[in-house]
Amino acid sequence: QNNSLFAQTLLAWFRMNGRDLPWRHTQDPYAIWLSEIILQQTRIAQGMEYWLRFMQKWPCVDDLAAATEDEVMRMWQGLGYYSRARNLHTAAQQIVALGRFPDTLDAIRQLKGVGDYTAAAIGSFAFGIPAAAVDGNFYRVLARYFGIDTPINTTEGRKLFASLAEDHLPEHEAADYNQAMMDFGATQCVPKSPACELCPLEETCVARREDSVDRLPVKLKT
Ligand code: ADE
Repeated sequence: QNNSLFAQTLLAWFRMNGRDLPWRHTQDPYAIWLSEIILQQTRIAQGMEYWLRFMQKWPCVDDLAAATEDEVMRMWQGLGYYSRARNLHTAAQQIVALGRFPDTLDAIRQLKGVGDYTAAAIGSFAFGIPAAAVDGNFYRVLARYFGIDTPINTTEGRKLFASLAEDHLPEHEAADYNQAMMDFGATQCVPKSPACELCPLEETCVARREDSVDRLPVKLKT
């Protein structure tokens, strides 16, 4: 919805406070895909070094696909979760076989190593597809702002938060909405002791009003 106060406030916050990250200066789906795979389990500062190195060594998907698995594994050394590197190489070959980077959510989702979250991130950033990339940051912000105590790690919770995220998604600003959520969750609506008195959503945040910020989101012990 383009008239969502929640989304519009976040977008305004993002324009002032968004992080300047190199993969946000490109619409090249290959560069964006590579950044999302690296950032799946890696912090931004470390991920950025690797992303820059990969982009320098293999500037386009054909270059990466043509590398040997050994070379890719060596470049990945230090990042951990090495199945990501193997999947990356396989997906590069999938993309080359397709003839171009897939440009629908379903087709992006077919790439090895790409799940719903990553497909929505790539789709929105590279192609402007209106899809919400709902990760842990998203859960936390939504749970608090809307005062939802449904556990985030249940089928019901995942469905509820996904549909809430989509309900508020501004159709033509999906990329900024997703990036705003990543940055807002990482720097303002942080897990512990967020500075609510400095938050632009403070006045309409349900958790703030009900003093439940520290209890949300709820996660079931497994
Ligand atoms: N984490 C996952 N994807 C990200 C992105 N595009 N920017 C910042 N952090 C991220």
